[in-house]
Amino acid sequence: MAVLVVFLLFLLAEPAISQLNDLDNNSNSFLRWFCGRTPPIHPSNFIKNRNSTLAELRRQLLTDGVFYATAQDLSAGDTVYAAAQCRNYLSTDECVACFDAGVSVLFRCVAGDSAYVVVDNCFIRYEDYADFYNNPNVVQDGVGTPFSPCGNTSASQPVTTFEDVVEGILTEIRDATPKASNNYVALTREITSSNETVYAIGQCVGSNKTACETCMNSAYSYLTNCLPTTDGRFFDMACFARYSNTAFFNGSQITDVTNILKGNSTKTIVAGTIAGVALLFFILGIWLLYRRRKKAKETEQANFKGAVNYNYKDLLLATNHFGEENILGKGGFGEVFKATLDDNSIVAVKKLQAEHVRVKEEFENEVKLISHVHHRNLLRLLGWSSEGSELLLVLEYMPNGSLDRFLWGSKRGTLDWNQRYEIIFGIARGLAHLHNEFHVKIIHRDIKSSNILLTDDFKPKIADFGLARFLPEDETHVVTNYAGTLGYTAPEYALRGLLSDKVDTYSFGVVILEIISGRRSTEVKSGLSSAAYLLEQAWQSYEKNIHMKFIDETLNLNQHEQEHVMKIIEIALLCTQTPPSKRPTMSEMVLMLQEGQSLGTRQLTRPTFVQNHDRRVNIVFSKNSSASNHVYKNKMELEADDREKSTCNG
Ligand SMILES: *[C@@H]1O[C@H](CO)[C@@H](O)[C@H](O)[C@H]1NC(C)=O
Ligand SMILES: *[C@@H]1O[C@H](CO)[C@@H](O)[C@H](O)[C@H]1NC(C)=O
Ligand SMILES: *[C@@H]1O[C@H](CO)[C@@H](O)[C@H](O)[C@H]1NC(C)=O
Ligand SMILES: *[C@@H]1O[C@H](CO)[C@@H](O)[C@H](O)[C@H]1NC(C)=O
Ligand SMILES: *[C@@H]1O[C@H](CO)[C@@H](O)[C@H](O)[C@H]1NC(C)=O
Ligand SMILES: *[C@@H]1O[C@H](CO)[C@@H](O)[C@H](O)[C@H]1NC(C)=O
Repeated sequence: MAVLVVFLLFLLAEPAISQLNDLDNNSNSFLRWFCGRTPPIHPSNFIKNRNSTLAELRRQLLTDGVFYATAQDLSAGDTVYAAAQCRNYLSTDECVACFDAGVSVLFRCVAGDSAYVVVDNCFIRYEDYADFYNNPNVVQDGVGTPFSPCGNTSASQPVTTFEDVVEGILTEIRDATPKASNNYVALTREITSSNETVYAIGQCVGSNKTACETCMNSAYSYLTNCLPTTDGRFFDMACFARYSNTAFFNGSQITDVTNILKGNSTKTIVAGTIAGVALLFFILGIWLLYRRRKKAKETEQANFKGAVNYNYKDLLLATNHFGEENILGKGGFGEVFKATLDDNSIVAVKKLQAEHVRVKEEFENEVKLISHVHHRNLLRLLGWSSEGSELLLVLEYMPNGSLDRFLWGSKRGTLDWNQRYEIIFGIARGLAHLHNEFHVKIIHRDIKSSNILLTDDFKPKIADFGLARFLPEDETHVVTNYAGTLGYTAPEYALRGLLSDKVDTYSFGVVILEIISGRRSTEVKSGLSSAAYLLEQAWQSYEKNIHMKFIDETLNLNQHEQEHVMKIIEIALLCTQTPPSKRPTMSEMVLMLQEGQSLGTRQLTRPTFVQNHDRRVNIVFSKNSSASNHVYKNKMELEADDREKSTCNG
């Protein structure tokens, strides 16, 4: 049975978390609620205390200008501590209306001693302890945060302008919210070229500045991942943030952040002069940019129509009847052709080998689904054609081709460390987006350097996502239904067919090592035993502290860069740990890279990998890892184990 690529988010693993998807009602859309499962001592007494606590919160919110309230009731030992928060753009009536709507949801939680509800306009939480007042991040059990639903329409005008504006406004929100006296910032920005306005807010819960800062940093990173969709929301226990190109608050209620961001006023005069000069350059810059983008506009606009069902004959013409001279490459799915459409725009056309696609309808559904996925680090699907015998995908054309060319192919040695790092970071962001899409979760399953395409300015775009299901089945694979390329594939997936987003984390780690070393994951270093695949080389150089031996010799690194590369090697090794629970999620990875975090207390062990030629498993479990074996055992996997034993000999 093919493992499905796509899991509906609605079938979330944790039954206690629920999501209401009525984002259409802009006023009081529920984003998520959570009911704890630990029972209170005396449920009826707890419910009584909860009622009085919530009533007290409501009383406080009825006062003009009060947007945050806390209340508690400790009678008879069933302590209830609660907090409620309204967005500051609301009137008192609107605030209380949102509170009431939230409470009606909380009343559904009858069994546990903790709960929260997130509404666009407000947030309510109660617990049986008070610690969360000072540190909102204190939680009792997994509460499914952070989360970040993105809209599903893409910005229509030159998307880079929209992205720049949103990134700018979110940067200010991120920096100003923790410094604002009430931990709330609302901003708007005009996009003159399209007459559009972007609205954004940030708001922290309580007054813990550290928690606020951390939370706003992740808000920034998640929300910029929503681009280029026209709206995004972010929630974590310590804050809420949102941007949209439709007004969700009155544009006159914005926060003046100039003083918050500039600090003291003596600098203002100097800053004023500098700002004047800067403005001149800025205008000049905009003009140049405008000229440059005007040219790009045509192709760009083609990118935002949504997926189009192309006429087969048109594509036949555009590719010169799939002429040899138009072949861009050959992938796991078939050949890719360069095509010039009627309007002179250039696209790539991927021909799927028909015998591998079982049902045409299934194909179209999949295509429609992935055409909704928009992110600057994911290759856009422009359309498809399933007339005739062939199934064709029409994709963005990337003149620079794939990353492997730049690592060991014809362009070897042309990327400096900075560019390589940006590529690593971009891939991480693209994957995080794929895993955290609002409606569906997509696991790529075949991340490798040849699936990473590069834009003109060497930014990465991940190709072939959502298609793993259509990969040809190769009988030589240990598990017939597994997609992926040996050398990049996580062992639990290659051998046991266990699929999770951590499978992509693993392959991402291998790609990092390729980017750093300029060598293929499957390349055996000559003169060494079969153990010396790339991952093994990385591990050995890490263990012996001889990183420089591992790094691509075409890179000229200064001291500072060397240290950075070493840190990234450690991160790559972290990605390739087994069991999968030791690997970070891609969202965690984005934060780690962004904040330059080190491993902290995490201990690295020798990575586990599947060797390419004989497909033996190199599983070197450390002393304490026998326990981790148990994690996997169930009936299906025991069967897989048997298969594994038989392949180990061959
Ligand atoms: C939207 O919210 C308003 C105010 O809370 C409510 O009166 C209305 O019924 C909601 N509409 C829908 C469609 O849920
Ligand atoms: C708590 O409030 C709800 C709604 O107002 C009410 O139905 C319920 O009876 C109250 N429970 C107690 C114990 O007061
Ligand atoms: C987003 O896309 C989904 C699935 O394609 C669709 O059902 C839903 O109505 C869309 N929502 C909005 C707000 O456009
Ligand atoms: C922008 O808005 C103004 C005033 O509403 C209108 O006159 C103008 O045509 C709009 N321009 C564009 C490009 O939509
Ligand atoms: C504030 O939050 C941070 C991070 O969540 C936490 O480490 C710290 O203890 C909190 N401060 C207080 C006073 O609780
Ligand atoms: C926005 O606020 C201003 C000033 O408070 C008010 O005059 C205006 O009517 C408001 N606009 C809307 C659409 O509510």
